[in-house]
Amino acid sequence: MVARPPVRLRIEEMRVTDLPAVQLIEQASFTTPWPAHAYRSELETNRLATYLVVRAADALVGYAGMWVMVDEAHITTFAVHPAWRRRRIGERLLLALVDLARARRAREATLEVRLSNLPARRLYEKYGFRPVGIRPNYYSDDHEDALIMTTEALDSPRMEERIESLRSDLDATPAPAAADADAAYPALAPTRSERRR
Ligand SMILES: CC(C)(COP(=O)(O)OP(=O)(O)OC[C@H]1O[C@@H](n2cnc3c(N)ncnc32)[C@H](O)[C@@H]1OP(=O)(O)O)[C@@H](O)C(=O)NCCC(=O)NCCS
Repeated sequence: MVARPPVRLRIEEMRVTDLPAVQLIEQASFTTPWPAHAYRSELETNRLATYLVVRAADALVGYAGMWVMVDEAHITTFAVHPAWRRRRIGERLLLALVDLARARRAREATLEVRLSNLPARRLYEKYGFRPVGIRPNYYSDDHEDALIMTTEALDSPRMEERIESLRSDLDATPAPAAADADAAYPALAPTRSERRR
């Protein structure tokens, strides 16, 4: 079998034209997905918000959003296409958000995640987020609690060292193979691992 070359990954700001692809991933990832109009309104009217997408060749394979309010960065959404998970795309996206938060002079970054969502919790822990509290009954569909996770100061030497070491690691990791790009948009099975509030 001929080895496929790596596909080029690009992280860019989300555009309104991305919303159909975002919706596919959203519906495959959350049991109470945000509707497309919620994303449209975020993109068009929320000046505190930034939404990023990851493209592998031309396919949109992940996205994330963040609000920066005063000196706090709040991650609002985060998902990777099911066919592209475990390829360090989530890491690249989270690193991009942390870089953005630091560039905007946020003191720390925070988010809520379902207690049961271990893949996401492990990802956030790897990037220095730590549990700081619980929001009881946070999710409206099944009343699961949310875990609040927050970083230490983004400009602390320990956090900077962690981020730079993870960045070097990622830089040394080959991008996913082009063969994966061919599989980017099979019909998505409804494997919903996280639900929205
Ligand atoms: C959580 C999610 C974004 C991870 O994306 P991903 O691209 O698969 O993650 P990566 O390949 O970059 O993994 C990075 C780290 O995350 C953790 N991780 C990711 N998937 C994991 C899994 N299934 N089990 C355990 N840890 C996992 C690991 O720590 C991993 O680092 P490692 O490879 O050194 O062990 C993805 O699973 C997803 O989209 N889930 C559904 C939506 C969701 O839950 N969003 C979060 C809302 S708060």
